[in-house]
Amino acid sequence: MDKQYRKTIIAGNWKMNLLASGVKDYADDLLTMIPNSSSWCEAVVCVPFVIIPAALSAFGNSHVSVGAQNMSQHESGAFTGEVSALQLNDLGAKYVILGHSERREVFGETDDIINKKVQTALQQGLSPIVCVGESLLQREIGITDELVSYQVKSALYEIDAKDFEKVTIAYEPIWAIGTGMTATPEDAQKTCAVIRNVVGSLYGADMARATSILYGGSMNDKNANELLAQVDIDGGLIGGASLKADTFAAIIDAAKQ
Ligand code: PGA
Repeated sequence: MDKQYRKTIIAGNWKMNLLASGVKDYADDLLTMIPNSSSWCEAVVCVPFVIIPAALSAFGNSHVSVGAQNMSQHESGAFTGEVSALQLNDLGAKYVILGHSERREVFGETDDIINKKVQTALQQGLSPIVCVGESLLQREIGITDELVSYQVKSALYEIDAKDFEKVTIAYEPIWAIGTGMTATPEDAQKTCAVIRNVVGSLYGADMARATSILYGGSMNDKNANELLAQVDIDGGLIGGASLKADTFAAIIDAAKQ
């Protein structure tokens, strides 16, 4: 099966939740529950900027990586309140979530800005997790495939194959995020396959086969098994269910298939 050619990634997206003072307990609990997860997947926690140092120190040399949830598209300069890719890399963050629907909807990030962020992240050695996904209206109109294809192509504009190796794509239907409404495994699989085809059209079949595509949107310890069993779903981007170490550990465990 093609899954052997790509990495399984289970990434938590804490959004604007939890505190630096609680990270040590979270990390200790998680590492006790999934002592060897690196043998079947890469576990990642994407935490608020201010928690990154505490998370890095709490996870130490363990197999759990730490990432950010956003960054500036600019390299440096007069951008009050922003955080650069270089600063994240300097701290030791490995991943950065880019183009999350909350960034697109609440903070007005356009496909153009997201593409610039992907380019900047790659230039500074970060591994982007690029999010795409349709709204409920777009799904009802029947333009999910076109929309996610467009978002993937826009985000990857002028990214060459060598750089693309560091990119992970997360399919996150907006209507499923934080709502408890998960896409059916079949629907999630179908759209992830569309995304893989787009990657193939941009970078060739080998690269498409080697690209990790995650599903996100109300993934939890109950539905993870079935979602992760789909042939084109290589992991999850998990919001609410990543806030507690035990449910996150259960999802990481579900990836052992
Ligand atoms: P959720 O969030 O798991 O709470 O739906 C997922 C995400 O927004 O990345």
